[in-house]
Amino acid sequence: MRAILPGPGTGAPVVLGEAPEPEPAADELVLAVEAYSVNRGETLQLAGVLPRPRPDWRPGKDVAGLVLRAAADGTGPAAGTRVVAHPPGYGWAERVAVPTRNAAELPDSVDSVTAAALPLAGITALRLLRAAGPVAGRRVLLTGASGGVGHYVTELAAASGAAVTAVCASRERGTRLPELGAVEVVTSVEDAEGPFDVALESVGGPSLSAALARTAPGGLLVWFGQAGGAPATLDFFEFFKGPAQARIAHFDYTASGPAYGDDLATLVRLVAGGRLHPEIGTVRDWSRTADVIADLRGRRIRGNAVLTVG
Ligand SMILES: NC(=O)c1ccc[n+]([C@@H]2O[C@H](COP(=O)([O-])OP(=O)(O)OC[C@H]3O[C@@H](n4cnc5c(N)ncnc54)[C@H](OP(=O)(O)O)[C@@H]3O)[C@@H](O)[C@H]2O)c1
Repeated sequence: MRAILPGPGTGAPVVLGEAPEPEPAADELVLAVEAYSVNRGETLQLAGVLPRPRPDWRPGKDVAGLVLRAAADGTGPAAGTRVVAHPPGYGWAERVAVPTRNAAELPDSVDSVTAAALPLAGITALRLLRAAGPVAGRRVLLTGASGGVGHYVTELAAASGAAVTAVCASRERGTRLPELGAVEVVTSVEDAEGPFDVALESVGGPSLSAALARTAPGGLLVWFGQAGGAPATLDFFEFFKGPAQARIAHFDYTASGPAYGDDLATLVRLVAGGRLHPEIGTVRDWSRTADVIADLRGRRIRGNAVLTVG
C-alpha cells in the first residue's frame, strides 16, 4: 500500500512510498484512512529532536476513515463504520491498524476532515483542563494559543467559564480566538497583565519564566511543551514578587492512561452538538505532506493541518 515514509537523510522530511500492509493484533481494527492531521510531536520525531520508538516507525497518530476489518476479538466498531482514531503511529497511509480502545464512532454530521483534526490536540486539551482543575470564573493564561491545542483549550476553557488570555505571535494568528471565547489576545506574554490563577505554558525559553511571573500566589502553571525549542531558565529570586507558593506541574497527555476512545467520543459529541469548532488552517492532498510540515515549522498554519488520502 502507499504510505508517507520518513525522508532519507537531510532532504525532504517525508516521501510518499510503499509500506507493508498493517498486521492487526486481535484487539485492533483496520482502518481505510480518509484524512489525517500532522502534529508538532511528529514533526519533532521526523526532525530527530524527539526519539522514534522503532527503526521501522512511520508517523500517523491522528486519523479518520472507514473500518475495513473489525477487530478479531469482537471489540469495537463493525466493518463499514466511520471512526476517528488515535493509533500509536503508522496512520499517514492508505490503511492502518488501530487498537479499538483508541477509536470512536463518527455520526454522519462529522466529516472525516474535521474528525482528523481532533485526536492528539483535542485529547491533550481535555486532559490539560482536567490537570488545571476547575476554571469557572478563573483567569487562565495560555501561550502557543494559535496552535492546534491552543484553539481547543481556548474554546473548552471559555465554555467552562474561564477568562482566557491567549498569547500568539500576531493578531492574524489569533483571529479565531476571541470568536472561540478568549477575553483577550496578546502578542507577547509580557503584554499579559496578571495575576492568573492558571497558566498553561507550551512555548518554553523566556515564555515559561514570564508566565510564571504572572501566576497568582498559590496558583498553578501547567508546563506542557517547548514549541520554541529553547529550554527555560528560572531565577528563583524573581518569584518572591508574585507567584509565591505557586505550583509547576509537568504535563504529559499519555500519563492518564493509554485508552483514548472515551475522550475521542467526548470530542466528537461536542463537535456534533456545535459546541467545539476545530480550527483547520489548511486541508491539502497527502502528496503535499512535506509542504505542510514545513509550514507548521514556519508557524504559517493556524490550528490544525489536515491531509486527505486520495
Ligand atoms: N505534553 C503533552 O502531552 C503534549 C501533547 C500535545 C502537544 N504538546 C505540545 O504542546 C504544544 C502545542 O501543541 P500543538 O499541537 O498545538 O502545536 P502547534 O500547532 O505547532 O502550536 C504551537 C504554537 O506554539 C507557538 N510558538 C511559539 N514559538 C514558536 C516557535 N519558535 N516555533 C514554533 N511554534 C512556536 C506557535 O504560535 P505563534 O506562532 O502564534 O507564536 C504555535 O501556534 C507543542 O509544544 C507540543 O509539542 C504537548
